[in-house]
Amino acid sequence: MTTQIVFIGAGNMASALIGGLIADGVAPERITATDPSSSQREALQAATGVRTQEDNATAVAQADILVLAVKPQVLRVVASQLADPIRVQQPLVISIAAGVRSDSLREWLGDQVAIVRTMPNTPALVQSGATVLYATPQVSEAQREQAESLMRAVGLTQWVNEETLMDSVTALSGSGPAYLFLVMEALEAAGRELGLPAETAHLLTLQTAFGAARMALESTEPPEVLRAQVTSPGGTTEKAIGTLEDGGIHALFRQALTAARDRSIELSADLGAR
Ligand SMILES: NC(=O)c1ccc[n+]([C@@H]2O[C@H](COP(=O)([O-])OP(=O)(O)OC[C@H]3O[C@@H](n4cnc5c(N)ncnc54)[C@H](OP(=O)(O)O)[C@@H]3O)[C@@H](O)[C@H]2O)c1
Repeated sequence: MTTQIVFIGAGNMASALIGGLIADGVAPERITATDPSSSQREALQAATGVRTQEDNATAVAQADILVLAVKPQVLRVVASQLADPIRVQQPLVISIAAGVRSDSLREWLGDQVAIVRTMPNTPALVQSGATVLYATPQVSEAQREQAESLMRAVGLTQWVNEETLMDSVTALSGSGPAYLFLVMEALEAAGRELGLPAETAHLLTLQTAFGAARMALESTEPPEVLRAQVTSPGGTTEKAIGTLEDGGIHALFRQALTAARDRSIELSADLGAR
């Protein structure tokens, strides 16, 4: 029998995951998504051919894999309403809710439930995400593989064995796209100030960011080696890098990630206590 995948919540992230799964060859008949909004359900069904449903409990009764894809703020209520059907059906539960710890999920769903907590990031919406996964002890090896292949539909996956590292993940890849957008924003503005037309500064910035990321992904060398390769002694790049290092760029990123990690710990505690 083929594995049935049920999504609770058919918003941005669920739609991205479903799009990725279908592009990977998963048959739409194997996927069901629930959402309170009929327009959301109809749009998803029209775009992907998956089944949609309004009632969460009915959908859970068919699930081998259950993806919790509602906003973190409503997850407690949604999960608590699904505890009984989940106890009966015993699906693998995958949560993509940012900041909701597995002990909170276990408290709402029951101790015996196999839970994989994941932290995707926004580039998942264009199938270029980075997702970190954490499995509770109830998760079998086969279920780990199922969770990983599901999240791989929207990009790269990595596992952590300690859930506390999820706060560091949030600080790096969760919030990370915003740091890189900020760097792009700063590069573009500086290019304009040096006299480049706005459109030219914009396109050169984006293509340079894309090209550098692609080179780094395709190379076996770490970024510092790639950087050294484009930094000739006495040249222009060396001047710019020296200016950034004198301005404390490494320390600044360290402080920024520490602040984000600490805020993630506070927000997770709030979400669990709610
Ligand atoms: N977007 C990202 O890039 C990103 C990155 C990392 C993690 N995440 C996580 O992914 C999850 C979903 O985020 P999102 O951006 O996809 O949010 P979203 O677009 O708001 O999707 C959530 C969907 O759940 C629906 N919903 C609300 N209550 C429901 C219920 N009781 N039963 C079933 N569906 C219900 C919402 O419907 P209504 O709009 O009608 O309320 C909405 O369509 C969040 O937990 C978030 O932390 C997202």
